[in-house]
Amino acid sequence: NYPSSVKIVEVGPRDGLQNEKLCLTVQEKLWLIDALSQCGLRHIEAGSFVSPSKVPQMDNTDEVFLKLKHFEKPVYSALVPNTSGMKRAIACQVNEVAVIVSASEAFSKNNLNCSIAQSVERITQIASLATQFDIPLRGYVSCAVDCPYEGAVSPATVLVLCESLLAAGCKEISLGDTLGTATAIKTSRLLSQVLSRISADKLALHMHNTYGQALANVLVGLQHGIATFDSSVAGLGGCPFAKGATGNVATEDLVYLLNDMGIETGVNLSTLTLVGDKISKLLQRSNESKVGKAMIAK
Ligand code: HMG
Ligand code: MG
Repeated sequence: NYPSSVKIVEVGPRDGLQNEKLCLTVQEKLWLIDALSQCGLRHIEAGSFVSPSKVPQMDNTDEVFLKLKHFEKPVYSALVPNTSGMKRAIACQVNEVAVIVSASEAFSKNNLNCSIAQSVERITQIASLATQFDIPLRGYVSCAVDCPYEGAVSPATVLVLCESLLAAGCKEISLGDTLGTATAIKTSRLLSQVLSRISADKLALHMHNTYGQALANVLVGLQHGIATFDSSVAGLGGCPFAKGATGNVATEDLVYLLNDMGIETGVNLSTLTLVGDKISKLLQRSNESKVGKAMIAK
């Protein structure tokens, strides 16, 4: 009983670029985002409005969004950590905002410089601006499986946070395996717990691939009825506050799997592999998509 189609949220321009040594210029980011949308990706997280001293790679997000609105329209979302970030997003006419809560106190402190309870409070403030400006909200629960500082996270904790995000007005919750340590069994345990009170159509999986398990975890997600997955072109990604974690599941690898299962994504895989190859060269790093590398080599 797999879903007949899947929504892919391409997070390459945000998660993918936030931890890179090289900072892309506004023009380079606009090229990437436009190229991804031309591959058929309809949901693209295009940047974040965070503190530039913490994440300098995202410093030019305002300019990127101001120029983006001239392009043909997918949903271009932005990650926002507080009301000052939300005000920047509103000024840039962002058409969807993603908020974050961490499932561990230590990661919350390192990533957002506040407690879990304070971050929920910040999300409530962001949500009231979102309602006022009619901007849809997406929520992330980061460290949904493991925390780099505290170790294993209980699925029950994740469920409670998902419910807080939904109560605050998020229309979709993305469960983040920030560290990329999840396995099929851990993902299944997490989903069984969360799905006991939240329906699959409100959930997404955001799997990092540090231990090479991301695609297996996606398959477990599909088996549980999840039909939204976050991924990153060329497997870019990582979090500056989760040392050792590598990129998201590569969008190319995800699309290859889904194509073979007859699950619709709307994405043109061969065009996407060219974008993956080009962005890897631009960032002077290796292409982390197995499918991308194999198809480029042909
Ligand atoms: P803070 O230091 O507690 O904030 O940062 P503050 O209110 O005390 O302000 C300190 C300074 O930052 C002030 O400037 C503010 O104006 C400025 P100063 O007066 O010193 O010159 N500031 C801002 N500037 C621009 N935009 C803003 C903003 N807010 C404050 N929005 C804050 C709190 C959350 C902002 C900070 O800790 C931060 O930016 N953290 C970075 C968070 C981040 O980007 N993390 C990576 C993304 S999350 C992730 O990757 C996980 C995910 O992918 C899911 C998964 O994988 O599981 C989503
Ligand atoms: Mg991430």
